[in-house]
Order: sequence, then C-alpha cells, then structure tokens
Amino acid sequence: MDRIAELSSQIIRNDTNGFQGNIFEQVQLAPPDPILGTALAYKADTSKDKMNLGVGAYRDDNEKPYPFKVVRKVESQIVNDHSIDKEYLPIDGLAQFNAAAQQLIFGKDSTAVKDGRVITSQAISGTGALRIGFEFLAKFYNREVLVSNPTWGNHHDIIKSSGLNFKQYRYYNPKNMSLDFNGMFTDISMAKPGSIVLLHACAHNPTGLDLTEDQWKRLAGLFKQNRLFPFFDSAYQGFATGDLNRDAYSIRLFTELGFQLIVTQSFAKNMGLYSDRIGAFHLVCANKETAAKCLSQLKLVIRPMYSNPPAHGARIATKILTDPTLYNEWMEELSMVSRRIIDMRTALKNELVRLEVPGNWNHIVTQIGMFSYTGLTPEQVEILINKYHIYLLKNGRISMCGITTKNVGYLAAAIKDAVLSTQKK
Ligand code: LMR
Repeated sequence: MDRIAELSSQIIRNDTNGFQGNIFEQVQLAPPDPILGTALAYKADTSKDKMNLGVGAYRDDNEKPYPFKVVRKVESQIVNDHSIDKEYLPIDGLAQFNAAAQQLIFGKDSTAVKDGRVITSQAISGTGALRIGFEFLAKFYNREVLVSNPTWGNHHDIIKSSGLNFKQYRYYNPKNMSLDFNGMFTDISMAKPGSIVLLHACAHNPTGLDLTEDQWKRLAGLFKQNRLFPFFDSAYQGFATGDLNRDAYSIRLFTELGFQLIVTQSFAKNMGLYSDRIGAFHLVCANKETAAKCLSQLKLVIRPMYSNPPAHGARIATKILTDPTLYNEWMEELSMVSRRIIDMRTALKNELVRLEVPGNWNHIVTQIGMFSYTGLTPEQVEILINKYHIYLLKNGRISMCGITTKNVGYLAAAIKDAVLSTQKK
C-alpha cells in the first residue's frame, strides 16, 4: 500500500463518530408554506367531505383540476413536431412568445410597444418574473417598495430576498369588507417621491377587490405628481371579468399615460399552465436606447439565476396566442371557467342567506377573481379545517375554484356552525 492509501484507510478506520459532525444541526424546521401547505394537508386528509379552498388553482364542478382542452391539443402538436429541438432558449426566452405576451398585456395598438420602449423577457411564471424584476430594481433603482395590506404572502419574501425593503399601504376595510381607497390613496401619497408601488393589475389577491376605472385614473394622477414607480403584478388576466382587455385596463392606462413601469405576467391561471411555469417580465422604459441597455442588464440578472428558461410552456402559449382559431378556443374555455367561478359566488352567497348565517355576505358576489376574502376569523377558520376538513387560508381567503354545485351546501352549513359557535362565546 502506498503512503496516501495507508493514511486514508487509517483515517476511515479511526472515524467512528462521523468526521464532519452534524454540520446542519442548527437548522430549525421551517413551517409549511401558508398557501402551498394547505394543498399538502388536503392531500393527506382521508375524509370524503374534504374541500380544497387553499391554493388558487382552477377546479371543475367535480373538484378535478382542469387542463384546458386547447392546451392539450397544442401539446400533442408540439410532441409530434420533430422539427422542434431541445436546444437552449436565449437568456430572455422565446422571442415569439415575448412578442405575443407583450401584445396580450399592452394591447395590439400600444404606442409604447410600437416605439420599442418595452423590453420583455420570458420568465419562470409570475413568481420568477417578480423575482427578476425586484432583483433588477435592487441593482438599478434601489428604492423602498410599497405593497398593499394585505397582499399575496409571497410578495413580501420575494422583495426581501431581492434585497429591498417594503412598507404597506392600506387597501382593505375589514369593517365593511370593502376596498379602502381613501386609505390607499393617503398612504401612497405619503410615500417618498420615486418609491416603487406594487399594484395588482386585476383580481387582487387575496381580497378580490379591485379599483374602478375612475379610481385607477385618480391613482395615476397621484403617481405622476409624486413620481412614483408603478409595478403591476398581473396573474389573473381574464379571470377577473372574463375579458382579457378589461382585465388589462390599469396597465394600459398607466402605460398610455407615459409611465415607465414594470409588469409581471403569469399564464398559470388563464391557460391552466401552473406547472409549466410560464410567464413574462416587461419593463417600459423612457426610450428605445435605454430599453436596449436595460435588456442587456436584465440578461445579466437572469444568467446566474437560472441561465435560460424552459421552452415547453412558452411554445404552448405562443401557439395559442398567435393562431386565431386556437385563440378563439382559448377564449371560449376562459370564459367558461371564469363564468363557473362567478356562478359559485352566487351559489355560496345564496346558500349562506338561505341558511340565515349571521352577517352580510354580499361581498362574496361583489369581489372578483379566483378568491373571496370571506372575513372569517382565524378561530372560525380552525373550525372549518379541523371539524369539517375544509382547507382555506388562515386569513379567511377561500379559492372559489374549489366550490362546486355539490359541495356548496356543505361549505355554507360548516360556515354557519363556525360563525354560530364562535358567536356564543
Ligand atoms: C395562490 O395565491 O394561491 C396562488 O398564487 C398560488 C401560489 O403560488 O401561492
């Protein structure tokens, strides 16, 4: 045996306790994700009555996930198209996808797009777009971020992980379960000039409360006056009103008013491409020259993060967005799914009224999008989860998509019990 081999066999022989010790001993068990964790808890529950109202993912009237038919059709075309190779995409993704996504969000007549002021990069769905957006801002526009209270929980972590700080602006009035526009306006008006303000383009998550067109205009005036930077998160285009153009109103208004701004766009919900992680990041710049420089820098943000995005979802979305027949098929399915959600809002409200559940349940039908912010207290939520196997978020948010014509009665009766049993105390 040579000297090195002899030494190493001695080391191995003498090592009875593990030569590295327990390097990660200090690591504490993290709590499950407040949203995605509900899906795991639901899966593990064996009750036949269980309901999944946690994660915002569409379900049909049989509580089953719903892959869009048009997506299935396009996927089989892609699988059989042997001209498609498996080469890397560019850092900013598939060019045709970027152009189509741009048109969908800004509209086909957008002057900003025509002027070449908009840069777009394919992104790892909405979350990935948010992350590269905030990373880019942390590098080139390091300002305080304002977020609505409440907002999608992951916004906080994305902003912090990107190295920025956030403050909250009022958004929700718990007394009458409505939008607190005056509070929102006042808080944003007190932000430092130039601050970044994160806005939900439509179907606000979790409240389901959106601004009216007039309120968006008033807000735009405030943003102009205080030189605030708008950052629109658009995860539900088509899910709020069923109309893609109406759901892009806020973004198009601010863009046409000449704002430099960011939009993050997701196709998870409106094409049902949750696990394909397909979305886009858009930055509207002051001019074409700056836009080109920003795109070059954005690529430097993306390259060390994930190099370049996956192609499959981008190919599906591109085909649907660029072929008029497929586009129409998509529109039909999108209006069918958004219709079902609206119908379930009415069904739940009617059932709660029929059962004479104390409280005013009008907000269930006036809120829009995937969610209803029910106003249920944490104690009532506990009852729904532990006694009725109904999984929802601790803040009382329910995904309307998990409600069906068959389980709406069970849900309303469970809510009645939760409300009455907590009232008695
Ligand atoms: C939700 O809010 O339920 C969805 O956006 C899913 C997620 O990733 O949180």
